[in-house]
Amino acid sequence: HLPPAFRRPLPIPPVLRPTRSDTATDYYEITQRAADVEYLPGLRTPSWTYNGSFPGPTLITRSGRRAVVTHRNELPRPVVVHLHGGHMPADSDGYPGDTILPGDGSSVSHDMSVPGNPVVGSRDYVYPGKQRAATLWYHDHSMGFTGATVYRGLAGFHLVRDDEDDALPLPKGDRDIPLMITDRSFAADGQFAYPSLAPNLTVPGVTDDHLNGVLGDVVLVNGAPWPALPVDRQRYRFRILNASNCRRYGLRLDPPPPDGDPTFTQIGSDGGLLSRPLTHESIDVAPAERFDVVLDFARYAPGTRVRLVNTLATDRTGEVMCFDVSDRTPQDTTAIPDELSSVEYLDPRQAVRTREFLFQSQNGDPGWSINGEPYTPGTVLAHSRLGDLELWRFTSDVHHPVHVHLNHFQVTRRSNGGPGPYDAGWKDTVDLLPAQAMEVAIRFTDYPGRFVFHCHNLEHEDMGMMADFTTI
Ligand code: C2O
Ligand code: CU
Repeated sequence: HLPPAFRRPLPIPPVLRPTRSDTATDYYEITQRAADVEYLPGLRTPSWTYNGSFPGPTLITRSGRRAVVTHRNELPRPVVVHLHGGHMPADSDGYPGDTILPGDGSSVSHDMSVPGNPVVGSRDYVYPGKQRAATLWYHDHSMGFTGATVYRGLAGFHLVRDDEDDALPLPKGDRDIPLMITDRSFAADGQFAYPSLAPNLTVPGVTDDHLNGVLGDVVLVNGAPWPALPVDRQRYRFRILNASNCRRYGLRLDPPPPDGDPTFTQIGSDGGLLSRPLTHESIDVAPAERFDVVLDFARYAPGTRVRLVNTLATDRTGEVMCFDVSDRTPQDTTAIPDELSSVEYLDPRQAVRTREFLFQSQNGDPGWSINGEPYTPGTVLAHSRLGDLELWRFTSDVHHPVHVHLNHFQVTRRSNGGPGPYDAGWKDTVDLLPAQAMEVAIRFTDYPGRFVFHCHNLEHEDMGMMADFTTI
């Protein structure tokens, strides 16, 4: 029953315009509501959306300007919005207790054991814009239900732009394309087949056979199954985001460029531009990671169909999308400079303390934990001082994509050596490999308060693999 590949054109999510602007701030409005979305040809899938589409609309904000995003909740349950990779005060970060309750007056019990500040109907999220250009994304962060709500469609891009990135001769405009990769499964009638314990989302978690995470059998890119993108013989910039609940992808091009040079030129990661470009034959992308890459289709003969494949699967999810190379070779005025940005190096020898976090399954119970504790909101595993450089060491049993809110960090080492090939630059999510230890250097800045860090395998997160940290 799976649809054929490469029939649908790649959708580009709509860009959300501000409803108004003043000297320092741009204001945006998003309504969270149920909508039927056509992912598979001829089938309507009941979805939960930002403004009716999946992915939600793309926000494009300016470094140095404040953005206020008003989220109105017309869904039948509490929601929480997190701007992933955003640097913002705690009360706009999407702490699990800071819910937006439905505004329609329907009685929804709020779990009073979760500390926080629930509001009814809508909430203004304030993003001060004190961060460099980067590919961020926003998604739901409801405690115990993030896997289910993101799967139903609550995810979108948020790009921060700045003068430094704009001034580089990189591909721009319609040759700067965000790619949100997700996997989903559908029932025969088109409904999402997500194995919630309770389909009406009254009980968190998934059935026991999905404790490791929920995999789909259809790959969607920007919401379309295995789409095709016609490209001219020139350079394109792609902002790759793995927004899947738990699937990792090993991305490659097939055929590889015939000139034999490396396939991907990586220019940025989670937290924006690298200092220098980096080349890869293939890129492993864990959930929530972003890779900003340039691909040059001038290296291919006209008429070539170039498939973006996933080497980590042997079924239909081994295919992601395709690029159909046209016979047009426009004059390409773009270039990839040898120096992209000056990136501050966090020197681990300057760190004032080291913290250890063990990511593993719960002892005895089904579920996941950090340092042996399944998530209890309000139980704080780290009290950090703003401005201090710290080393955080993560140790794992199985794969865990570890994400820390508030600030980006730098990978200093992995137990098998230095940083890995996909660890360059400012990161907010790292691909912690099975039975591995890794260390990152992190310095929290600007905003005191309570935040979370967690595994971004959303089923692991929902089933306990999260913890609070505070900053003062
Ligand atoms: Cu993208 Cu706390 O998550
Ligand atoms: Cu995990």
